Parts: sequence; C-alpha cells; structure tokens
Amino acid sequence: IWSTVPAGPPDPILGITEAFKADKDPRKINLGVGAYRDGHGKPYVLSCVKKAEQIMENEVEDKEYLPITGLPEFIKHATLLAYGSRCIPLNEGRIAATQTISGTGALRIGAAFMARHYPHPKVIYLPNPTWGNHIPIFRDSGFEVRKYSYIDPTTNLLNFEALKTDLRSAPEHSVVLLHACAHNPTGVDPTLEQWGDISTICQERRLFPFFDMAYQGFASGSTTRDAFPPRYFAEQGHQVALCQSFAKNMGLYGERVGTFSLVTSDPEEKARVESQLKIIIRPMYSNPPSHGAHIVNTILKRDDLYSQWEGEVKAMADRIITMREDLYNILTKDLKTPGEWGHIKSQIGMFSFTGLKKEHTVALAEKAHVYMTADGRISMAGLNPSNIAYFAESVNSAVRG
Ligand code: LMR
Repeated sequence: IWSTVPAGPPDPILGITEAFKADKDPRKINLGVGAYRDGHGKPYVLSCVKKAEQIMENEVEDKEYLPITGLPEFIKHATLLAYGSRCIPLNEGRIAATQTISGTGALRIGAAFMARHYPHPKVIYLPNPTWGNHIPIFRDSGFEVRKYSYIDPTTNLLNFEALKTDLRSAPEHSVVLLHACAHNPTGVDPTLEQWGDISTICQERRLFPFFDMAYQGFASGSTTRDAFPPRYFAEQGHQVALCQSFAKNMGLYGERVGTFSLVTSDPEEKARVESQLKIIIRPMYSNPPSHGAHIVNTILKRDDLYSQWEGEVKAMADRIITMREDLYNILTKDLKTPGEWGHIKSQIGMFSFTGLKKEHTVALAEKAHVYMTADGRISMAGLNPSNIAYFAESVNSAVRG
C-alpha cells in the first residue's frame, strides 16, 4: 500500500539531534536544538519544578481528564504572566484562552482557529528568517505564507528599514507573526522604540499581530521586560493573538505545556471564541495532558515557588550571556578569528546566529563533531566551560578553511 510514499528529509532542527546521537566521538557537541543545558552540559530540571512535583504528590493530582481547553487555574495564572496585571482586556474578562500542547500546539490551534474564523484572506507574513516550523504550521493550516525582511545577512543585525517597508506594503488585514522576544533563529530583537513603530504600522495597515512568545524570561532574565511587546500591543488596542510556551522558561520541554489566547471585544465574544476553540481541539486530541499544567500552576500560584522560579530563569539567562562573552573573547582575542563577531554578544536569548555558512556547518559536523543547524544558528545553552574552547577552535579552523 505504501510503496509510493516518498522518504521525507530529516527535520532541520530535531534531525540534528539524531545525527549527534549517532556520532561516537567523545568531543561531540550538540548546538542544534534549543534546549537548556547546565554548566556541565546536562539537561536541567529546575528546583522549583521538583518542589512543585513534591507538593503535587500530596495536594493535587489525580489522573482524570482535563476540560477540553485545559486546567482553568493554570490558564488564569499563565495568561496573567503573559499579559500582566494591568492588562485591561484581561481584567475585563475578554481574553479567550486555551491550554495547548506547548508552543507548537499553540501555534497550530491558533492557526486552525484563524483559518476557520478570521474574516479576511488567510495570508500570514513571517519574518525572514524565522523558526523553521512556523512555515509548515501555517501552510498546513491553510495559510498563504509570505515573508517580511528581518535581518541583514551582511551584518547579522536587524534591517529595520526593510522590515517597515515590507509590512507597509502588506495587504490590509494580513496576519503578521511577531516573535515576542529572543527571536529564533537570529537572537535579534527590535528595540522598544522599534516595537512602537511596528505597532503603528500594524494599526495603519490593519495588520493582525500574532505573537509567538516561547522565551518569556529567557531573553533578558525578566519576565516583565520580555513580555513588553504583546503587552504594549494589547495596551495600544490591538486584538492580539498570543502563543505561550513553558518549555524553555520552566525547562518543561517534554511536558508540552503552553497556551493560545486571543484578545476579544467583550466577555460574550470571548465565550463564543472559546466554544469554537473547543470544537477545533476535541476532534484533534480531545483534551491536553495534565501533569505539566499542574506543575506550572503550582509554581505560578505560590509566592515562594514563583520567586524561586524567577531566580532560576535569570540564572539560566545569565549563564547564556556569560557564554556569549566568553565565546566572543576567545574568537576575537585569543584566536583572532577572521570576521566580525560582535553580534554574538549583542544577540539575545537561547540562540546565536553566528553567520557561519552552510559549508562551515558541514565541515564542523564532519571534522569536529560539532552540530548546529544549517543556517549557522547555535544554541548558546549547549556551550559550557568544558567545551567552549574546543568549539571556538573548531569554528576558527572552519572559517580559516
Ligand atoms: C528550537 O528552535 O530548537 C526549539 O524551538 C525546539 C524545536 O522544537 O525546534
């Protein structure tokens, strides 16, 4: 039956992990997938998560089904974290929200909802480049995917003039995907002032802002600072859509916990929107898994765990910033590697868009057992004091050819 099914290519990000696992060299480094590693290169379970699970053993968890849109208390705390306590639509009870299977699930449910109910052509503008999975998520949901300029490949900095030009020429009512913070893959975010300009353009052109916030707290170490863009847009009266993930900021990668939310006009409209979210979710996976939502809820609702979590997110963000400085120093001062490397320090969040070309990434994998995505993105969290010198030397050799 399946003899004509063609073999598909490996996933550009998760496929790297498969190649890494197959490599037997002890010096190997995986900088492909964006998953935090501690200073010894090990996966890291946050202490606040361990404590929450202990509390849950006694307090919370049965293994019953959650409602179709998830754990109500989790949604309340999660949307408060995203939008902030001063958010008028939140306080007026007009943000429709559902628990989702992490950020990808949020994007997919959001895209499915928009495809079914957005009363305009289904055209979405994604930044160029963007997280690779954005493209099939929206395409498979029935959107026409277009791109807007984002980074200048010669400098690895934001090309804001080109970005503005592209958004200004997008047809009215197009959807625009915006990375709330720690843009993936580039690590380059607009400044606060530039966010103001983007908001104005969206208003003038009636563009629909669809935020992907996968790294709240992870970029700057402050959950408030990182949530500025969607909060600001909501304050300016945009009816934003927002995808939220707890994979990175709580280290809950495999728990698959997130939210999708939409600002609506009033509580009655919110109820109608939520009823349609249920109609999309029920035949897809019925209802979301409960364990991760209970963990997040336990952390967010308790002052002691919440402040412990804030400290732990900041520590993760700070470790990454230290790695950026160390890598910059080794490349420029110790090895005098040809090229301009300042962007390694100025970029923010989990990733650095190194500027390495595909041929460099191939050489690094084959000769040095160092794995990264073909666009030259590295997960900074994969670097630590034991492997950073080897990584920098490998980059130096690859660049020098
Ligand atoms: C990444 O970009 O590496 C992460 O968001 C993980 C993923 O699912 O691709």
